[in-house]
Amino acid sequence: MLTNKELAYKAIEAKSKSVAPYSKFRVGAALLTEDGKVYLGANIESSSYSLTICAERTAVFQAILEGERKFKAIAIASDAEDFCPPCGACRQVLLDLCGKELEVVMINQKDEIKSFLLKELIPFSFGEEYLNHD
Ligand code: THU
Repeated sequence: MLTNKELAYKAIEAKSKSVAPYSKFRVGAALLTEDGKVYLGANIESSSYSLTICAERTAVFQAILEGERKFKAIAIASDAEDFCPPCGACRQVLLDLCGKELEVVMINQKDEIKSFLLKELIPFSFGEEYLNHD
């Protein structure tokens, strides 16, 4: 199983796949499944800016399409000096598809690591439990 640092290095690698001609802000993500597989993601921008998709969501959707449903951690790397936390939209999607125990790992340009559980990043959240009516 990869360490958080190793997963973060995969996110840096994924960043090279980013298509960000408008913001020029590249983001990479690496999603670790419970059985140790890694799926990469990068942000992909559209000229109609709001259609842009974040790195975290491309990684999750890629993994889901490969049949994965159980995830352990996601690492995020960006062009910023500081740690790049997932945006609000990605927090919701990660909660829905990966669960609140997902570990969210960030790496900054100093090669430092910071990590949270997703439930710390999206407290008092909306979720599937509100929709499961019998
Ligand atoms: N972005 C991500 O890919 N992930 C985040 O968590 C924050 C923002 C992307 C979206 C857009 O392409 C660029 O960063 C600037 O917002």
